[in-house]
Amino acid sequence: MKKVIIDTDCGVDDAVAILMAIRNGLDVKGITTLSGNTNVDQVTENVLRVLHFAGRDDIPVFKGASRPLISDLIEGAPVHGRNGLGDVELPPANRTCSDVSAPEAIYGIAKENPGITLITIGPLTNVAMAINLHPELKNLLGEIVSMGGALYKGNVTRFAEFNFYFDPEAAQFVFDSDIPLTVIPWDPILENVILEEELKRIIPEDSKIGKLILDMEKTSIGFMEGFYGVRQSVFPDPFAVSYVINPEVAKSVITGNMRMELNYNVMRGASVLAEGERMKIVTAFNFDVFKNILVKTVSKK
Ligand code: RIB
Ligand code: CA
Repeated sequence: MKKVIIDTDCGVDDAVAILMAIRNGLDVKGITTLSGNTNVDQVTENVLRVLHFAGRDDIPVFKGASRPLISDLIEGAPVHGRNGLGDVELPPANRTCSDVSAPEAIYGIAKENPGITLITIGPLTNVAMAINLHPELKNLLGEIVSMGGALYKGNVTRFAEFNFYFDPEAAQFVFDSDIPLTVIPWDPILENVILEEELKRIIPEDSKIGKLILDMEKTSIGFMEGFYGVRQSVFPDPFAVSYVINPEVAKSVITGNMRMELNYNVMRGASVLAEGERMKIVTAFNFDVFKNILVKTVSKK
């Protein structure tokens, strides 16, 4: 089983991604949390409750950054509802998060599991802090797979995608590290949305996990209808996790580089394609491969 750490700002799609990871055989050694879609305390509570619902109280949870390194703290998108889980109230977990901070946990878990994959599905603040505190992470992490950035069209401004916009200095710090990095940007994800009626066909009514996903997605489907005029679901974070489960989910991958726009202008937080071969960038998906992984996520067994 592939060993992973998941770093998350647990909103709705993060919760689906976490369920996808544990239901498709990834060996999740720990989940680290930070502010993004909602504040880090709510994010941490969301992760504890999702893991409890899925019967995985064995996976340790570590609280991290409450705000970006430099940027002001901004509100997450209403797409995730007031509590970050589409306002679905899950039963409380009968445990709390660890006393170890997220950056220290990333280092500690990587030290115990050299070569482990770090999947980031939120801003990169924790990862930047972990690398700054422990530069030897470059010899311990096998790869960072990061959902973030936009090649041509953003989702929080015209140019910038939420995760990298939320903390652009942290994103640039991670780019400047020499840890193998694969970026899963917003553009190809937006090309692979699932209409509400198809989602209901994919997810069996009597699946406990499937019903939770449908209930959480209701808020974001309503938001997507308001924004794009179509009742559809978009799955940014699950695409990042699905790539680690089965890299064949990527139909095309380029080797290139990104530079974060850090100046305080209209482009701030944009991930601009740049010279160099620093990272792999997924530019298209095999949607059927992704859907098969989603079906497995909600299957009853
Ligand atoms: O831009 C999409 C990303 O922003 C996803 O990680 C979503 O959860 C939000 O954090
Ligand atoms: Ca996220």
